[in-house]
Amino acid sequence: MSDSTGNPLDDPATDPFEIAAAAADDIARLTGVERHDIALTLGSGWGKAADLIGETTVTIPATEVTGFSKPALEGHVGTLRSVLTPKGRHVLVIGARTHYYEGHGPRRVVHSVRTAAATGARTMVLTNGAGGIKTTWKPGQPVLISDHINLTGDSPLEGATFIDLTDLYSMRLRDLARTIDPSLDEGVYCQFRGPQYETPAEVRMAKAIGGHIVGMSTALEAIAARQAGMEVLGFSLITNMAAGIQTTPLSHQEVIDAGREAEPVISSLLARVIGAL
Ligand code: HPA
Repeated sequence: MSDSTGNPLDDPATDPFEIAAAAADDIARLTGVERHDIALTLGSGWGKAADLIGETTVTIPATEVTGFSKPALEGHVGTLRSVLTPKGRHVLVIGARTHYYEGHGPRRVVHSVRTAAATGARTMVLTNGAGGIKTTWKPGQPVLISDHINLTGDSPLEGATFIDLTDLYSMRLRDLARTIDPSLDEGVYCQFRGPQYETPAEVRMAKAIGGHIVGMSTALEAIAARQAGMEVLGFSLITNMAAGIQTTPLSHQEVIDAGREAEPVISSLLARVIGAL
């Protein structure tokens, strides 16, 4: 079933939805939770949210679940957690994001989303750390994603699969988030391939075409979530101003530090939003 990489998703003859279904079976078996209601992917800076949402009933290494790969990066936790909220809803917390820049293709990138859908989740909350273009924003600020521009040139959809992306980042859920924090601003997320940060010219291009946020994740995942019929909510933590907007060089350490500093505040915001879903 799998090619030489050992991951069945890498064999084009396999059906990624069957592999997601097998992964969902693994999760049900390992967590004892038959169905999850909500899925949450934790990006840089958002890690603490899982502790605030409710009680973690089970934590499993993602590597024990069919089709998942090892995390490529320090600061990205390779676990899946089942969290029970005070309202009795089951949240699948995905701390094991595969980035497009890892070069394993879109199937692996969106496998966690397809798996979440196969566990029963109808709502997909995607979070990330990203660069900000709007000059009214400051590092450490969370913003809602209102729409995206997919600059990867790639798609998780295979074949002639025509999916409507109007209102991809649900207006209903954005409005709900603003009932928790009315000061939340929003913007259009541009997914670049990475892993290099953008040049100032690329950031000017992103701005010229309507972008406000630059990052290396989320857009492909959101497309797969919509294909799976999920309602999507997206949050970016602005970890830095985008290249050329800030005059100092960008560093991964700066991104990690900004995430760490903002973590308590944004995690409690996210937990309150999840509590209201
Ligand atoms: N660009 C792309 N990805 C990022 C950035 C950025 O400025 N900051 C954090 N992730």
